[in-house]
Amino acid sequence: MGSLEDFQDLDGRLKEIFKWFHSHPELSYKEYETTKKIREILEEEGVEILPCGLETGLIAVIRGEKEGPIQALRCDIDALPIQEKSGLSYASVYPGKMHACGHDFHITVGIGCALLLKERRKELSGTVKIIFQPAEETALGALKILETDVMTDVQRIWGIHADPTNEVGTIGIREGAVTAAVDRFVVTVKGVGCHGAHPDDGKDPVPAAAAMVQAFQTIVTRDINAFHPALLSVTRIQAGNTWNVIPETAQLEGTVRTMDKKDRQLVQQRIREIAEYTALGYGMNAEVEWIAASPETINDEEMVEICREKALKMNLQVVPEERSMGGDDFSFLEEQIPGCYIKIGTGKGQLIHQPGFAVDVKAVMITVEYMAGLLGI
Ligand code: NI
Repeated sequence: MGSLEDFQDLDGRLKEIFKWFHSHPELSYKEYETTKKIREILEEEGVEILPCGLETGLIAVIRGEKEGPIQALRCDIDALPIQEKSGLSYASVYPGKMHACGHDFHITVGIGCALLLKERRKELSGTVKIIFQPAEETALGALKILETDVMTDVQRIWGIHADPTNEVGTIGIREGAVTAAVDRFVVTVKGVGCHGAHPDDGKDPVPAAAAMVQAFQTIVTRDINAFHPALLSVTRIQAGNTWNVIPETAQLEGTVRTMDKKDRQLVQQRIREIAEYTALGYGMNAEVEWIAASPETINDEEMVEICREKALKMNLQVVPEERSMGGDDFSFLEEQIPGCYIKIGTGKGQLIHQPGFAVDVKAVMITVEYMAGLLGI
């Protein structure tokens, strides 16, 4: 590899690989065919695959001949339960399933890097692990990777995400927090049910729950520093099942997004206080269940600088990475070691998680070259 012709060969081959993955999307934890295909392609080229006991997903390793750090590239591999309406000739062949978050692009870049780095092992400084991670859409798939021991010796980790708000050839990077910590809460207000005509015979949980919804909104506006991004949404309210009965319980469910560890703790504490004391004020009790998902993703300053330099050297356009109150479980992987999550322009169009989302295949080879550069050649 190395000549222009070889590059064109790899480019053509990766485009075909991308189209195959795009048309064969599989949902979280069900990525069996996907895993099999990745394995086939890598094994055919003699890329080493680490035995790590994953049911879906796999980890490839490329050992360079020069001294250098152990680095990892994380590529998530799952799709979404969306009916595709992209109009592409290679659209999903499975009804109701679609690669609408660009993870097919991430897989292809991972494969491309593995093949390129393997071919150029002589020039490669250090060792590279390519992590094909299952179930990112559950926000917890990265924990499967942590259950193996493949991350213990990794010194730096890189993550990529397709970005349909930028043209091909654009790299979005930013220091600090780029995706939010994602948490879920469920509040159960426990009243006393009774006849709708005699509320005095019971304890109506509905007004108490309504008061909580209002009061929760003051957490972001009154408790959090105005310069810190944070949001709280109550997304489900449930109580009763008919018109003339005061229900026994009311339930609120929602999500909290923060970008600072102290804020994350504070919001949880305030939700508990408001729920419990409001319920008390209405003569009843409330129980709060807090379900923590992934933490915020924080880009390492030094790695961002390396990204910027490499992009400029390759004549790519560097733009400030758009911060998102969405989460990415990549953050679990970079909680212990320096990490950097890069947005890759894949052509402007419908946003991710939409049925018309599409990646411009021209982005594949550019990204492979860029990431292979960051990984040590
Ligand atoms: Ni995604």
